[in-house]
Amino acid sequence: MLEDLIRSWDGEEVVVRFDQPTGTWMFVCIHSTVRGPAGGGTRMKTYAAPSDALADAMRLAAAMTLKMAAVDMPFGGGKAVLAVPELLGGEARRGLLLRYADLVASLRGTFNTGPDVNTSAADMDVIGERCGYVFCRSEEHGGSGNPGPHTARGVFHGIGASVRHVFGTDSHEGRVVLVQGLGSVGAPLAEELLAAGARVLASDVVADRAERLGAEVVAAEKVIGTECDVYAPCALGGTLNAETVPRLRCRIVAGSANNQLAEPEDAERLRQAGILYAPDFVINAGGVLNSLGSEHLGWTREQIEDRLAGIGDTLEEIYAKAEAEAITTEAAAEQLARSRLH
Ligand code: PHE
Repeated sequence: MLEDLIRSWDGEEVVVRFDQPTGTWMFVCIHSTVRGPAGGGTRMKTYAAPSDALADAMRLAAAMTLKMAAVDMPFGGGKAVLAVPELLGGEARRGLLLRYADLVASLRGTFNTGPDVNTSAADMDVIGERCGYVFCRSEEHGGSGNPGPHTARGVFHGIGASVRHVFGTDSHEGRVVLVQGLGSVGAPLAEELLAAGARVLASDVVADRAERLGAEVVAAEKVIGTECDVYAPCALGGTLNAETVPRLRCRIVAGSANNQLAEPEDAERLRQAGILYAPDFVINAGGVLNSLGSEHLGWTREQIEDRLAGIGDTLEEIYAKAEAEAITTEAAAEQLARSRLH
């Protein structure tokens, strides 16, 4: 199964290691270095089978290639998954991260990493003890820290552009936004939306997170059928599929999760349903803009804020192109990204 997956992939290289002390499969997938060295987060998660973890890493890596191209960063796309038997803490986690850091170091810069689901700036600090190809270390360790709030800021701009496109107004006042997942991006996004006057509904596996933020709580199983203006998936991917799209009661899908579409056909399902979809790899690019921009390209705070606002402009271009050509917004965004991959 692993063998078939690797052979049929359209990326450049897959590195596999089994970490005996923790029973963790490590997959580093380098999808493309056409625009520069690959950049992508390190996800730590449990999976039913190693092949599920590899398939996840491959799709996430391909999305990074599109993301870097869509926002015109001089990087390629990659991703790493640490498929742990259970979420690790303490010394076991530290040991795993150090051995993983040695693996990333051995790739000599073709893969540069940062945080993703279940990894943090503190984890990047540990990786940074052994390996220089790491972004988003804590500020004490010379990094740009947690990218979550910057990703959220980009999503906020993206929601603004989407609302403007559908409702013809710039204001968030009274707009109903359902944020699914209050993690490192969803939580600061909910805060920004509330501050801008939106009505925020939220759902999270941790029961009291929504309440503490001042959002209205929605049960996890109710998210899909809940009426709202904007549905913002900010947890794991795959929430848009043949079963859920017909049940959506929103006008816009615009959130930070990677790989929101379970399969390519879901983009057309959304279009048919009259729901505007902000392609995930465009709207969630704020984290890479901030970390790679500040750490690698020497951008100032002001330049970064400009680029984060630019996510809204890019989405408007994509929406206009999709309408003019009667194609999905996903197809329009992919065309834009692919035109920068030669
Ligand atoms: N999780 C981030 C993303 O999907 C990955 C990342 C962040 C990579 C910051 C590099 C730097 O975009």
